[in-house]
Amino acid sequence: MEINSISESVCFPKADHYRVVASNYDYFYQGKNEALMNALLKYFDDVQPKHVVADIGSGTGFFAERLYEERHLTNPIWCVDPSPEMQAIAKKRRGVYPITMTAEQFVHGFKTEKFFDKVLCISCIHHFTEPLEILRGLKASLRPRGTLLVVNIGKSSNLPLFTNAEKSFGAFLSSFKERITAMLQKADFEVEVSEEKIYVGLKKSQWYEMLRGRFTSNLNEFTDEEIEDGIRGLETGRLKGLCLEDEVKLHYSFDILKATKRY
Ligand SMILES: C[S@@+](CC[C@H](N)C(=O)[O-])C[C@H]1O[C@@H](n2cnc3c(N)ncnc32)[C@H](O)[C@@H]1O
Repeated sequence: MEINSISESVCFPKADHYRVVASNYDYFYQGKNEALMNALLKYFDDVQPKHVVADIGSGTGFFAERLYEERHLTNPIWCVDPSPEMQAIAKKRRGVYPITMTAEQFVHGFKTEKFFDKVLCISCIHHFTEPLEILRGLKASLRPRGTLLVVNIGKSSNLPLFTNAEKSFGAFLSSFKERITAMLQKADFEVEVSEEKIYVGLKKSQWYEMLRGRFTSNLNEFTDEEIEDGIRGLETGRLKGLCLEDEVKLHYSFDILKATKRY
C-alpha cells in the first residue's frame, strides 16, 4: 500500500469549490457539525484554558468557536484555511485567529516548533497535496505529548446518494482510514483509532439543495445534468414516496485518529 497518498481516488477541491459553497456551508452542514461536535467533546477533555490550539482546514470556524467556548480558552484558535470566502465567515466568530493559507504554506512558512498543545484536522486531510510532509510539520509544531486529532467521514456512513455518487464516495473512502493511520505512524506519532456514529435528519428538499449545491467536493465530478438524473433516480428509488417536507436520514460514521507526539 502506497502511504504517501491519502486515497486512490484523490480529492483536490476544484479551484473555486469553497468560494462557491462558502455562503451555504453552515446551512448544509449545521446538523452534521452540531452532532459531530457533541461526539467530539470527549476528545477535548485534555484541552486546558491556557492551551494553544490550531485548526487546519478550519473552514467557517464552527469547530474552533465551539472548542474555544467549551474549554474556556484564553488564546484564540489559529484557524488555517486557504479559502478567503470560508475565512470571511470564520472571522465573525469568537475565538478565531484566521490565517489564510494552505496547510502546506503553513508548515513550510511558519516557525511554530513545539508551539501547539492540540491541532485539529477535521474533514480536510484529503485536500492536502503533501499529506505526509504536512503531518511531519504538524508534529514538529506540537509540544511533547501534544495531540493531533484527525477526523474524517468513515466508510460505514450511509447517505442517500444517487448510485454514481455513492460509487465515487465508496472509492474515495476505501482504505482511507488505514492509509492515514499508516501515514501518522510513519510520521512517528502514537496513534489511537476510534469511530463515532452520528445521525442527522433533514428535509428531503434540503438534501436535494445539498446535492445540487455540491455540498461535498466529490460531487464536482458530476455535471448539473448528471445531478438532476441522480435526483430523478432517488425519486423513483431510495427516496420514493417521501414528500419534499419529509425527513431523510443521514447516518454518518466518523473515523477519529488521535495522534500523540511521543516526546
Ligand atoms: C470540508 S471543509 C472542512 C471545514 C471544517 N474543518 C469543517 O469540518 O467544517 C475542507 C476545508 O479545507 C480547506 N482546504 C482545502 N485545501 C486545503 C489545504 N491545502 N490546506 C488547508 N486547508 C485546505 C477548504 O478551504 C475547506 O475550508
